[in-house]
Amino acid sequence: MVQFYNVSKVYANGVKALDDISLKIDQGEFLFLMGPSGAGKSTLIKMLTREELPTRGQIFVAARSVVRMKKNEVPKLRRNMGIVFQDFKLLENKTVAENIAFAMEVVGASSRDIRTRVDEVIGMVGLKGKETSLPSQLSGGEQQRVGIARALANRPLLLIADEPTGNLDVDTSHEIMELLYDINRRGTTVVMATHARDLVRAARRRVLTLERGQIASDTPAGEVEA
Ligand SMILES: Nc1ncnc2c1ncn2[C@@H]1O[C@H](COP(=O)(O)OP(=O)(O)OP(=O)(O)O)[C@@H](O)[C@H]1O
Ligand SMILES: [Mg+2]
Repeated sequence: MVQFYNVSKVYANGVKALDDISLKIDQGEFLFLMGPSGAGKSTLIKMLTREELPTRGQIFVAARSVVRMKKNEVPKLRRNMGIVFQDFKLLENKTVAENIAFAMEVVGASSRDIRTRVDEVIGMVGLKGKETSLPSQLSGGEQQRVGIARALANRPLLLIADEPTGNLDVDTSHEIMELLYDINRRGTTVVMATHARDLVRAARRRVLTLERGQIASDTPAGEVEA
């Protein structure tokens, strides 16, 4: 699903955020991305979404080179991925249903498909009855459920989440994690950057730890982190 070959990223200010990263993520995997602040987690995620280009190396997502891809092919790449943000990034003047529908409108889905799919993903994230609520009328956990529903709307192969529980309390974080595991069980590959150690320890999924832009450890699912 994802391959990195000797990927380095040096930002314009000279900061080396990624230093010779090679890794492979299989379809259906759930991967936690850990490491201290500044280790390069968000930068690695931006390589996947092509928000940033690597300075060196090759990156493949769903067998397509993200590096060689032309600008006009980027929307097609992003259609294969759903992105969940720490601060939800919902449109405040749109309802729950409208926020999700919008993600489908921008990729040109038919209004019939949109109606069906919006209902479906609202059910998946447990927000039935909240369709017409505005984000300001929802709790943080509920807002993140909308964020996840929106990310799922276009049936992505890859779900990317950068600290999705960063603004949530412990109980709500667990609920959001259950939702992400559920999505993963249905076949979507998940990459999630987080600082939540307890969460990661309990999950027994693959954990890739970055330190100063390098891979410090890569612990397979089911093994306890050293
Ligand atoms: N757009 C940018 N321009 C210049 N330097 C950047 C940019 N984005 C990130 N950096 C630097 O690259 C390094 C890695 O940053 P990154 O955001 O990937 O870390 P992170 O692991 O996500 O940290 P955190 O846990 O705090 O979110 C840091 O030193 C950061 O200051
Ligand atoms: Mg980050």
